[in-house]
Amino acid sequence: MSNRVKKAIIPAAGLGTRFLPATKAMPKEMLPIVDKPTIQYIIEEAIESGIEDIIIVTGKGKRAIEDHFDNNFELEDNLIKKEKFDLLAKIKQPAKVDIHYIRQKEPLGLGHAVWCARSFIGNEPFAILLGDDIVQSEKPCLKQLIEQFEETGKSIIGVQTVGENETDRYGIVAPKTYEGKRYEVDYLVEKPKKGSAPSNLAIMGRYVLEPEIFNFLEEQEKGAGGEIQLTDALQKLNSTSSIIAYDFDGKRYDVGEVLGFIKTTIEMALDRDDLKEELTLFLKEILNQSSIDHAK
Ligand code: UTP
Repeated sequence: MSNRVKKAIIPAAGLGTRFLPATKAMPKEMLPIVDKPTIQYIIEEAIESGIEDIIIVTGKGKRAIEDHFDNNFELEDNLIKKEKFDLLAKIKQPAKVDIHYIRQKEPLGLGHAVWCARSFIGNEPFAILLGDDIVQSEKPCLKQLIEQFEETGKSIIGVQTVGENETDRYGIVAPKTYEGKRYEVDYLVEKPKKGSAPSNLAIMGRYVLEPEIFNFLEEQEKGAGGEIQLTDALQKLNSTSSIIAYDFDGKRYDVGEVLGFIKTTIEMALDRDDLKEELTLFLKEILNQSSIDHAK
């Protein structure tokens, strides 16, 4: 079995119910942060981490994702004729990676979505990236995890510390031992009830896993929320070959729910030279206005 991580799965077959009605006919992964679909940030992170082949697990109504990562000759031709080369560069497809697609026929859960990609992965270690988390860091988040995998030879899950009142929204790691930013996993629990989480280490949508996980996903029963959960299968994998949780460096943006999505959009727009100035003025203006309204 090769030890190099070359393939990645991006599950994108969920219903995106937190963004309804926007996601009734449009995939949540195509919602833009400023002017780029969330899934494009994820693909770019995978490429910068050295991934060569990506499989996107799609479902009903997700054609826009395939179209987005395909060439659009008409648009390209139009931009060339108008000499809009800066825009042309923005829509060019990444040359360094091959993107493949597979359908999850029913949204039975994240664990099931990952399992749908098993033939594509075969018998080699692979990465999973979830579009709900965008990470900005000097070294790409997935690259950090791949380095940990290469060093330890063990499956790695990306974690970060969250507040006490947020643990019920995540898969949580109960650590056994730790060394620097690396935690040996004792057990994992998906969305524990408030006040019952074994730690504040939350799983953040980045994984590097050994292919053995597919054996556990194959027989995984439904768990939290009536869905086949990846966390439950990881729990079983951990009992046969230990898993490491790695507290990665970087700022993580939660774009899987509406408030996080709005905050990320504002923060990333404020980072852009072409938008920063006017947006800052506008924000100041509306904040002043709302404090005047409150004082009335
Ligand atoms: P989420 O629970 O965040 O996504 O799943 P969702 O189900 O689309 O969103 P809500 O909760 O209804 O708003 C995490 C990731 O797993 C994928 C989703 O597309 C998302 O990227 N997923 C989830 C699947 O691919 N298939 C599923 O059956 C469930």
